Amino acid sequence: QNQGFDSSIAQAKWRGDAIFYQFHGFWFTPLCLQGTQELLNQFKPLSGDVILASFPKTGTTWLKSLLYSIINRSSIDQLARNHPHQLVPQLELQVYGPQWSFAPPNFPSPCTSPSNRIFGTHLPYQIFGKIANSSDCRVVYVARNPKDTLVSFWHMVNTMEMAKRAPWPLEDAVDKFCEGFLPFGPYYEHVLGYQKESIERPKKFFFITYEELQSDTKTHVKKLAEFLGCPFDNEEQVEEVVRSCSIETLRNHEVNKSSDVSEFNPLPLNSFFRKGHVGDHKNYLTKDMIERIDGITCEKFRGLIFKHEAD
Ligand code: A3P
Repeated sequence: QNQGFDSSIAQAKWRGDAIFYQFHGFWFTPLCLQGTQELLNQFKPLSGDVILASFPKTGTTWLKSLLYSIINRSSIDQLARNHPHQLVPQLELQVYGPQWSFAPPNFPSPCTSPSNRIFGTHLPYQIFGKIANSSDCRVVYVARNPKDTLVSFWHMVNTMEMAKRAPWPLEDAVDKFCEGFLPFGPYYEHVLGYQKESIERPKKFFFITYEELQSDTKTHVKKLAEFLGCPFDNEEQVEEVVRSCSIETLRNHEVNKSSDVSEFNPLPLNSFFRKGHVGDHKNYLTKDMIERIDGITCEKFRGLIFKHEAD
């Protein structure tokens, strides 16, 4: 049975009982595909909307906090009371997803100005592009190096209920990553789709890497603010935003400490704040795994993104 999807949509067994669906070349869980189809039918971005697009585990939560803080400036109270995924809902999961239905499609903006709504999406440009191009909304895309993305994703899956009985072996996670068989995968095509647009249309698409942000957060936060059309007035403002969005600050808020799943997300709230380091893959991946991933990175990115990955 195809869970009510068009019979042309391919399905495949992922792990355990999980079935994934392939839509426009990308893999989806049934719930995300349902949400995606609703979104594609219903969502009309407004011209002031800001969309954060990302592959899972690439820094989405950090960017949500930063975008919210840049746009709303004084955000400390909001960030202390709300999980970043509450402030910036994920379109295909929380807004249009069948299970959580956190907010109706006309979700009132959490931002100070109704023309500055912020949403997140894990949809690739190959699927989301038509919607993004239907208004003057702006899109920020965060990418992260493939090996840390994979390790972070593997950890996340192992925090889920289903993994308590059968933890996900790292070897299988590497195989699935290399095959592109992850939710919203393949990773490489996901990154390339937005990267190309950001080169061709830099006023509409802003491409940033997790590693750039880590290496010089202030400079990149200022660039983000300029791209969003709300540059900072002084350095103190920049410092406040950077501080209030740091992983140390965020993980200490009560709302982010909970290991419960919430009404707006299927994952434990604290699972979004793990280590937040660049290069954590070195603690987990074997030499062979690294060589295998670097080979694919070299071939797919051709040294244009994450140059050091292919060295
Ligand atoms: P690690 O698992 O490597 O620690 P996403 O938000 O896309 O799910 O990505 C989660 C990753 O971003 C996790 O990486 C998490 O620790 C890290 N992260 C979350 N908040 C962060 C922050 N404020 N600053 C830096 N990294 C952060």
